[in-house]
Amino acid sequence: MQIDIFTLFPQWFGWLREQRHIANVLAAGSRIECVDFRPYTPLTGGQVDDTPFGGGAGMVLRVDVLDAALRAHYGMDPVELRAQRRVIALAPGGRLLDEALVAELAAEPALTLLCGRYEGFDERILEHFATDVVSIGRYVLSGGEPAAMVICDAVARKLPGALGDARSAAEESFSEALEGNPEYPHYTRPAEYRGWGVPDVLLSGHHERIERWRLERSRERGAAQDGAGQGSGERAREEGRPGAEEDGAGEER
Ligand code: 6GU
Repeated sequence: MQIDIFTLFPQWFGWLREQRHIANVLAAGSRIECVDFRPYTPLTGGQVDDTPFGGGAGMVLRVDVLDAALRAHYGMDPVELRAQRRVIALAPGGRLLDEALVAELAAEPALTLLCGRYEGFDERILEHFATDVVSIGRYVLSGGEPAAMVICDAVARKLPGALGDARSAAEESFSEALEGNPEYPHYTRPAEYRGWGVPDVLLSGHHERIERWRLERSRERGAAQDGAGQGSGERAREEGRPGAEEDGAGEER
């Protein structure tokens, strides 16, 4: 797998390469390359963004700058590049990243990730250069870099040799073995700590009962997560967070 990351902050990705599972896949022949696109700008003073047509706050990443950087790096028109590899623009309005999309990306031989500023890409970048627009959640980051790191981390876990134990990937959260649900609770020694015990079944040695217990807990967590998706105000209220105001219930606690 070859991942190219177009970013204004290539040095941020240094620590990512040092993470054990990423280091493992790099040692096995995968590549993560960062391309600082500022030097490719055709504008003066290293300018890469501009004020939005129609007015408004913030700056917008220019289409001519990304065109120049992609063209220089790949030696071809970026419009043709996207017929050859997945070019993924990272933006909050994109397709939400989930385990299915991670698996889809992990099956690609090469990815290009475009990191923009949160005010956004010029729409023509998304329309003409990108094959995908991906978001990592419904909140705003100040740039696409953390999202690119999330994608690299999640994708690398799927590559051969990333994890010490191949079973870790087979039965982890959102896997088929767990019917797409999050993972069940884990416990390890000590079996009792400050009066906090461990479910008896896990100490029973009954593999069948353990499997059944784990699947049930995993299903419960999946159901709880699904519920939290729609009624997120519910959890916000419980935790006294913003979003709790919609019916005033939060104030009474
Ligand atoms: Cl991919 N980019 C930015 N700027 N904000 C985000 C995001 C991406 N995903 C969630 N929020």
